[in-house]
Amino acid sequence: MTRTAPRLPWFGPGRRPLYLAPMAKRTDVAFRQLCKEQGADVMVTEFIQSEALLRDNAKAWDMVDFTETQRPMGVQIFGATPASMARAAREVCDRVFPDFLDLNFGCPAHKVIEQNAGSGLLRCTPLLFDVVKAVKDAIPGTPLTAKMRLGWDHASIVAVDVAGRLEELGVEAVTVHGRTREQGYSGDADWGWIAQVAAAVKIPVIGNGDVRDGGTAIRRFDESGVSGLMIGRAALGDPWIFARIKAAMQGRPGDLASVGPAERWACMIRLAELTLEAHAARLGRRDVRWMLDRLLPMTQGLPGSRKVRDRLRHCLTVDDLLRARDEYLLGLTH
Ligand SMILES: Cc1cc2nc3c(=O)[nH]c(=O)nc-3n(C[C@H](O)[C@H](O)[C@H](O)COP(=O)(O)O)c2cc1C
Repeated sequence: MTRTAPRLPWFGPGRRPLYLAPMAKRTDVAFRQLCKEQGADVMVTEFIQSEALLRDNAKAWDMVDFTETQRPMGVQIFGATPASMARAAREVCDRVFPDFLDLNFGCPAHKVIEQNAGSGLLRCTPLLFDVVKAVKDAIPGTPLTAKMRLGWDHASIVAVDVAGRLEELGVEAVTVHGRTREQGYSGDADWGWIAQVAAAVKIPVIGNGDVRDGGTAIRRFDESGVSGLMIGRAALGDPWIFARIKAAMQGRPGDLASVGPAERWACMIRLAELTLEAHAARLGRRDVRWMLDRLLPMTQGLPGSRKVRDRLRHCLTVDDLLRARDEYLLGLTH
């Protein structure tokens, strides 16, 4: 079924948008830019605490940052106090005009759920709905969306009921990560439940969990009836996944092997440059060592990847990366 959402024009006839999942400390403005250049359609900031925004915390406001080329762009906030969620949402919309405001009902981290926020609200749905109502009223000009897990645990799966109520409250799309809070990131995402949510509401449902290649993406679209897919961990080592899925959806080859070594290096270097651009001034450093955890996942699948990782660990600057790339590519031709 094609669902339209007048204020979310990236859904609609013939459209199957691919979202980059929000991932704290990973999907900052730099990584998002890389994924945008690789075909991600819609992006969401990492989750940002509403109270931190209201305290005018500089780090929190840095996380709201996005560029015009990254649109359509959502800002995701979390919290469990309706009034402060509403005020934070309004501040964000007034300052940066996101294409949508997203509410986090999925984070399983202890420090978040102990405040009843994130997936903690799935145990306490009256409060969750109060948060939604307050935010909805506060930002009439901006579409409101939500991202949630299936429920607190397997004995209390609430995703279908919650999605139905969110639709009634005027939420315009909902992302469902097919795991419970209790599961964390273990086990498999349950796409049967995601399909049940998609069948129960008329607003677009974005399915999320364990999409790692084009074949799986096509199956998920066809079997679950979702309107969009959200891709998280796979994109960290494989930002090409968005273009690969799109190729597969058009019947073209899109396996990871089609991403050659030169392209992989180009993306690593691009990410290093974008990351420096985004953070160097604030951090007062121009070395690339601190961003190794972003670059290393992208070496997986490169011939001789272990050696490449060792080499990367010795790179201090972007120039060192360029030299490492040249030596590597030259080595391939000899
Ligand atoms: C390191 C990390 C950070 C995450 N941070 C957020 C976040 O800030 N907001 C959110 O809604 N989900 C967050 N998630 C969950 C992801 O958005 C996504 O729902 C989850 O990883 C499942 O999708 P995947 O199987 O494609 O990775 C995070 C996941 C990871 C691994």
